[in-house]
Amino acid sequence: MSFDRKIKIAPSILAADFANFGAECEAIEAQGADWVHVDVMDGHFVPNITFGPATCAAIRPHIKGVMDVHLMISPVDPYIDAFAAAGADVITAHAEAGPHIHRTLQAIRAAGAKAGIALNPGTPASAIEPLLDMIDLVCVMTVNPGFGGQKFIDMTGKIRALRALIGDRPVHIEIDGGVDPNTALLVARAGADVLVAGSAVFRGGSASNPDPYGTNIRAIREAAEGVYA
Ligand code: DX5
Ligand code: ZN
Repeated sequence: MSFDRKIKIAPSILAADFANFGAECEAIEAQGADWVHVDVMDGHFVPNITFGPATCAAIRPHIKGVMDVHLMISPVDPYIDAFAAAGADVITAHAEAGPHIHRTLQAIRAAGAKAGIALNPGTPASAIEPLLDMIDLVCVMTVNPGFGGQKFIDMTGKIRALRALIGDRPVHIEIDGGVDPNTALLVARAGADVLVAGSAVFRGGSASNPDPYGTNIRAIREAAEGVYA
C-alpha cells in the first residue's frame, strides 16, 4: 500500500447486498472504487451488529485492492490478530473504544496492518496529538457511528485542524458518514483524501446491474476533485 493524497473513494459494503458480498466487492472495484470499506459493529460500542473476522476473510479474495476495516467494537484488542489474519490492510479502531488506544494502535501495527484511529463527532482533533507517529490514517466520523444513510454532520473545522497537526506525515484523512457529491467537495477542500460512501455509491445499482455504481463513484470523485467547483 503506497501513500498519496489523491482522492480515494471507499464504498462501504454496509450498503451492499449482505447475501452477495463477494460479487458486490468485485462490482464496485470494476466500477472504479479505490478501497473497500468494511464496517464491523458489535451491538455494544454501537447499537447495531454487522459481522466479524470470518466474513472479512470470506470477502478478502474478492477484493484486489485495499481492504479497509473499520472496527466499531469494544473491546478491540482481543480481535486485532483475527482481523489481520483475515487480510485487512487497514484496521481502524475508535479513540473512544477503551482506555488504551495507544496500546491498540501498537498492536495493529505489530499484527502487520496499517493503523487507523476513528474519531466520533464529539471527540476533538487534539485526541490524536500524542499518537501522530503511530497512525497511518485518521477517520473523521461525520455521523454518529452505527448506521448507514444518516445526515452529514459538518466536521470541516476538525478536518482542517487534523490536516495541520499531521503536516508532512504520511497519514490519510478519511471521512465516514453522509458523503455524497455535495459534501465531498467540502471535506476534500478541508484536507480529506479518503472518502467513505455507502448509500451514495450503492443506490440504484446491484451486482448484476453495476453501472449505477460507476456513475455514483465518478460523481463523488469529480465533486471532490472540484470539477464542478
Ligand atoms: C457508519 C459507518 C459508515 C456508513 C456510511 O457507522 O461507519 O461507513 O456505512 O454510510 P453512508 O455513506 O450511507 O452514510
Ligand atoms: Zn465506516
